[in-house]
Amino acid sequence: MCGIVGYIGEQEAYPILLEGLKKLEYRGYDSAGVALLSREGLKIIKAKGEIAALEKKVGQRFPDGNTGIGHTRWATHGVPSDSNAHPHCACTEDFTVVHNGIIENYLALRLWLEEKGHHFSSETDTEVLAHLVEHYYNGDLLKTVQEAMKSVEGSFAMVAMCQSETDKLVCARKDSPLIIGVGEGENFIASDVPAIISHTRKIYILEDGEFAVVTSSSVDIFTAEDTLIKKEIREITWDAVAAEKAGYQHFMLKEIMEQPQALRETMRGRLLNGGREINLAELYLTSEEMNDISKIYIVACGTAYHAGLVGKYVMEKILRLPVDVDLASEFRYRDPLLDEKTMVIVISQSGETADTLAALRLARSRGNKVLAITNVVGSSVAREADRAFFTWAGPEIAVASTKAFLTQLLSLYLLTLYLAKARGALDEDSFECAGKALFDLPAKVEAILSREQEIEEIAGYVSKWGSTFFVGRNLDFAVAMEGALKLKEISYIHAEAYASGELKHGTLALIVEGIPVIALLTQKAVLEKSMSNIKEVKARSGYVICFAQEGAEGLQNEVDHIFYLPATEDFLTPILSVVPLQLLAYYTAVARCCSVDKPRNLAKSVTVE
Ligand code: AGP
Repeated sequence: MCGIVGYIGEQEAYPILLEGLKKLEYRGYDSAGVALLSREGLKIIKAKGEIAALEKKVGQRFPDGNTGIGHTRWATHGVPSDSNAHPHCACTEDFTVVHNGIIENYLALRLWLEEKGHHFSSETDTEVLAHLVEHYYNGDLLKTVQEAMKSVEGSFAMVAMCQSETDKLVCARKDSPLIIGVGEGENFIASDVPAIISHTRKIYILEDGEFAVVTSSSVDIFTAEDTLIKKEIREITWDAVAAEKAGYQHFMLKEIMEQPQALRETMRGRLLNGGREINLAELYLTSEEMNDISKIYIVACGTAYHAGLVGKYVMEKILRLPVDVDLASEFRYRDPLLDEKTMVIVISQSGETADTLAALRLARSRGNKVLAITNVVGSSVAREADRAFFTWAGPEIAVASTKAFLTQLLSLYLLTLYLAKARGALDEDSFECAGKALFDLPAKVEAILSREQEIEEIAGYVSKWGSTFFVGRNLDFAVAMEGALKLKEISYIHAEAYASGELKHGTLALIVEGIPVIALLTQKAVLEKSMSNIKEVKARSGYVICFAQEGAEGLQNEVDHIFYLPATEDFLTPILSVVPLQLLAYYTAVARCCSVDKPRNLAKSVTVE
């Protein structure tokens, strides 16, 4: 996610902006910039890369100015570059903006503005905001911003500056966080508390649809209709370190809790009209190309590989196409069977995993077009793939991947339904039913997250064991694989995933009294079969913790603990069933006093073989 900092007061703004941007580095970024207003006019300095590159560009003599805005960019539209870095100006340097979020209709707005004579200097969606402000400016920056934002669809936290009103900063917020820090004779603006906590602990939290006019001595907050809002000042009690985690003890829990928003951001502009419509025009896949596919090959590592396993089940069931899923470290040395009608999909949160990158290069060397599903714009995988589908999960700091996994699943679902529509593989009703069920998932994830206490109690039992099993059939087996990886990589408990039907072929020998067996029973078609496997475990006194959909009959008395998930379409359950397994891994690791965010021996991105 991008980071925003603003200052207006008696001090030199630049040092405060720079310090604030450094406090937001944890959010992940690929370029940074500042804009300052002074008697000499506007000064903008921005640079690709780390904040050190910006400092180097500024040099020894930093620019004057008691009013300024700063930004760390996490690229969404347009690769990381000096010109795409924020702040952005309009045609003149009268108006400057910084923005965090996604402007869904930026292309239409850009064309409309270009027809009116505006010229653009970047590839970003954000720049349209500067030109809209310039277009609507009527001598009142607040009213101008209120008017400009009416035509914007998407998410935004934005701050605007204007050379003819140098005594104020104007903010607007919808679906992206923005706070205002209240000082003595000075005020601050930021995406998040860490950027300003060293200056003030008194903040206003801007809500969706609110606008603010911030001067050195006042903060006035308005509705879009210019009604003044009386807001309470909040006192931040966190320390600076806790603030980076938004008050959570670990980044992993913060990222688990961010999953509903990560899903909504990844759906934004793609799953439309309540789920009745899917728009993946960004993939530039022609109807002919989509109908020409005769096989799909998914390649990834670790958690991303488990997303691919879910993709296999879903794509084969809906598209009736053969789907291979391979570990990238195997694929690259397997001499894989690829032909010109094979669609290769690589999945990588970081976009820098060495094995996955090598697999991508191998597929391209065979002449196959490669689609990358990745969370990092400008990453090697994104740049070298023929097409990139970005998950908008925002930076994932914890080594254990959670929100990236959920958005990878969502991406595969969106792609499957998009291909199904193009290939006539689903009738209109089935397509709409699936799309609406997909659209409803973020709220269902929220419902599961609200029950984290139940999972913490289960973790109390699991944490006392050195070995556990995760079992499931069909899609549940794919999720069991992910659940086992989550638990083992952060709690160091040996966890193995098995297809339920495989237990009697060996694993049952390891079932001893009380050993935790986490059983996923979400797939109606194999519920009975899975139940008989659970009975095999219970007959050997295993301790069975079951996850099933609401409405599943006859399970209560057969297992030691049951956690009912909100009901949804069977093929969508992985997005729900993995969430309690993430929480289980997290609370088990906490109970075992493990290094949750940075587990031993592991790296967030494995950039070597
Ligand atoms: C997942 O929790 C692990 N951190 C690891 O398996 C990870 O998924 C794998 O290394 C792939 O990383 P990538 O998605 O960045 O390519």
